[in-house]
Amino acid sequence: MAMHKAVATVAIRAKLGLIDAQTVPPTGREVRVHVEWTASTPLDLHQNDGGLLVKHPQILGDGIAGKVVEVGPEAKNFVVGDKVFGFAFRENKQKAYQDYATVPETTLGKLPSGFTFQEAVTLPNNTVTIFHSVTKDLGLPLAWPRPTTKNPHADTPILIWGGSSSCGQYALQILSAWGYKNLLATASARHHDYLKSIGARHTFDYRDKDVAQQILKVAPHVPYVLDCIASQQNSLAIIAQVAQGGTRVAALLPVIVRDATDDEAPEYSMDTQGAVKWADGVEARGVRTHFYEEDAFFKEHLQTTVVPELLATGIVKPNKQRIVEGATLLERAQAAMDLLRRKDVSGERLVWRVSDLKLE
Ligand SMILES: NC(=O)c1ccc[n+]([C@@H]2O[C@H](COP(=O)([O-])OP(=O)(O)OC[C@H]3O[C@@H](n4cnc5c(N)ncnc54)[C@H](OP(=O)(O)O)[C@@H]3O)[C@@H](O)[C@H]2O)c1
Repeated sequence: MAMHKAVATVAIRAKLGLIDAQTVPPTGREVRVHVEWTASTPLDLHQNDGGLLVKHPQILGDGIAGKVVEVGPEAKNFVVGDKVFGFAFRENKQKAYQDYATVPETTLGKLPSGFTFQEAVTLPNNTVTIFHSVTKDLGLPLAWPRPTTKNPHADTPILIWGGSSSCGQYALQILSAWGYKNLLATASARHHDYLKSIGARHTFDYRDKDVAQQILKVAPHVPYVLDCIASQQNSLAIIAQVAQGGTRVAALLPVIVRDATDDEAPEYSMDTQGAVKWADGVEARGVRTHFYEEDAFFKEHLQTTVVPELLATGIVKPNKQRIVEGATLLERAQAAMDLLRRKDVSGERLVWRVSDLKLE
């Protein structure tokens, strides 16, 4: 079988390694993509430094943008040469940090004209995360096509903790486009104007000691909270001061008990309900987007139709991109990992060129 280069975890908290991976021909409805761009996410750090759901060597990355180079016998959405972007994660052959990824065609959409790979690759994993978490964990509808009638929850307060994160920015844009208009967001103050421009009605600085009281002053009862940070001390413990009986909290797992640093291993938990002391009647759920395909509509249409439409029609603007440079695939992957570990990411997505292969 043909081989190509890939970046993988080697051991917990070790430098990333360059490995030879099999170039897997697509079968059934799979397609093979030459991976040109990816976006690094905190999951890379959770996996490399925390060993979260990892068996070494594991190829990293779940967001790809590139060109289709081969289609399986039953694939019907794409032809060779199509520019595509998407989110896939199940096996090494699907992962992003390699020259070629072989993925189900349902995990890809066509790149809308007028957009670059760098812009598009910021969307797939976290727009899917928002559709999954809002509908399955918060229990709020996001029907497709978008309803034209007024949303009955137009005035219901919904708190987006971590509004400037990639997930938070997509949550604000998607929820407001679906008519959820009473959106509260926490972020550093320098991002407040931008978050208001993409749908936040009220913004709060999460570092303020009295941030919970500030939120309660604006919204005495907050029935829905999407925690895009899931830090035991720096988000969940504060949200617990806001949440009351009947509040539903959806936190993007893992719960971060201790962050990764250069000197210390991180500590994670998957227990949102037990992470902090909640008021009676608060339901705190842990979001796991890797189950989004259990929804048959999402499996078939979310990435093929909905996400490209969000981008093409301007319903969402891509996250701001910070291009990570490096002479090789491995250097770029390692540089992005080091930025994640230093928490040197604010209101932006780390994107970088993947394959060093020059195709004709
Ligand atoms: N389980 C799942 O299904 C799932 C899916 C997607 C993501 N996730 C997880 O969700 C988390 C966020 O992912 P992401 O890619 O959206 O992150 P990201 O964009 O890399 O997050 C960076 C942002 O986090 C903000 N931030 C840091 N600490 C904060 C705090 N205590 N309160 C409020 N904001 C804070 C920073 O805000 P400022 O710059 O404003 O200070 C920064 O803009 C990660 O842990 C990721 O692994 C889980």
